[in-house]
This record gives sequence, C-alpha cells and structure tokens, in this order.
Amino acid sequence: MTEHDVSDLSARERGRLMKTAVSPRPIAWISTRSPDGVDNLAPFSAYNYVSSAEPVVSFSVPAGDRDELKDTARNVLETGEFAVNVAAEALAEEMDATSASLDADESEFDFAEVERAPCTTIDASRVADAPVTMECTLYGTMTVHDRLLTLGDVRHVHVDEGVQTDGQIDATKLETVARLGGPYYTDSDPIDLERQF
Ligand SMILES: Cc1cc2nc3c(=O)[nH]c(=O)nc-3n(C[C@H](O)[C@H](O)[C@H](O)COP(=O)(O)O)c2cc1C
Repeated sequence: MTEHDVSDLSARERGRLMKTAVSPRPIAWISTRSPDGVDNLAPFSAYNYVSSAEPVVSFSVPAGDRDELKDTARNVLETGEFAVNVAAEALAEEMDATSASLDADESEFDFAEVERAPCTTIDASRVADAPVTMECTLYGTMTVHDRLLTLGDVRHVHVDEGVQTDGQIDATKLETVARLGGPYYTDSDPIDLERQF
C-alpha cells in the first residue's frame, strides 16, 4: 500500500486520486435557461442525491464571481431552477459534446444536436430522449473550499415508460453512462450479485 498525506500532493495529483477513487460517478446532464432565454445543457459528475424521501440532489462547480461561474451555475443562481436529465448510454456522445465551453448565448442543445422538450414546472428545456428528468428548484448553495455546492429540491419527475416495469422505474432497464477517472466512461450493467439483507 502506498500512503499519501494529502497536503504533500499537487492539486493535479489530488484530482486524479479523488476522481478515480470515487467512481463510477453518476452524471447529471443539467439543463437550464438563462434569463435571456438561452437553453443551456452540460454534464456534471460531482453529483449525487442528498435525500430521497424529500428528494434533494447536489452538484458542484468551481466557485467564483458571477462572470467566472459556469453558465449552468450562473443560470441556477439567477433563475432558481434547473433540470437533471439522466445520462443514458445511447446519448453518451451527445452528452460528452455538451461539455464544450460555448459562449453563454450559444445553446449546447443546438451544438450537440440534442432534441429538447419543454419542462412542466420550470422554465427550461429537458432532453427529450432522456429516460428520466428531474425538475428542480434551488434549495441553497454552500461554498466548500474552491467549489460551489448547489442543492436542488426535486419537484417533478419524468420517467420514460421504456425504463419501467409494472409502472415502477426498473434499475435493470435504465442504461445509464457514468464517469470513471481520466477520460473513461462506463455503463451500468448489473453484476451477478444481489443484496442478501
Ligand atoms: C462527464 C463529465 C462530467 C463533468 N462533471 C463536472 C462537474 O462535476 N463539475 C464541473 O464543474 N464540471 C464538470 N464537467 C465539465 C463541464 O461539463 C464543462 O465545464 C461545461 O462546459 C460546463 O458548461 P456550462 O458553462 O454551460 O455550465 C464535466 C464534464 C464531463 C464531460
């Protein structure tokens, strides 16, 4: 075993270690609408749910002043709304393409040719072919060192009939793509081990 005192590692080494050790990570493919009406779309794997009974999700981006923030974070702070589209394996290339750094007045939906559909309860578009979309309102933010952690209350959920069995969402049908360390993605094929307890 190699042991590391984190303070001896460079920022790059810490990033590599954390992003590889904490994997696979689910990907929130987040859609927002800017106050100017531009539909934004980008993937975030520093993402998870925080609570499920009263559903809350979180994602993080580099913290900064308004002009330094990623478009997604700025839109969420300015509108109080965002949608998390579940990243399906079938749309992995498009999802990856939407990580391009475009100007704020350019839509990644157009750039990556992702079909959009209207959200129901928030003023944003969703990914029409995503198996699940969660419409969220801003719960709050917290600055954690150099990151802005953003929390959203999940208010309304779209679930494709194709990933359901007997009216319930089915893990064996939801073919998600997830992020590994480095440039790697992985699929969500279940392994041959079921919970015993
Ligand atoms: C799979 C994947 C996961 C990513 N996860 C994050 C993340 O968790 N936080 C982050 O700040 N950027 C993340 N990025 C980079 C953003 O997607 C990228 O900076 C994007 O341009 C942000 O778009 P926006 O400025 O429209 O919000 C990720 C990129 C990819 C491809």
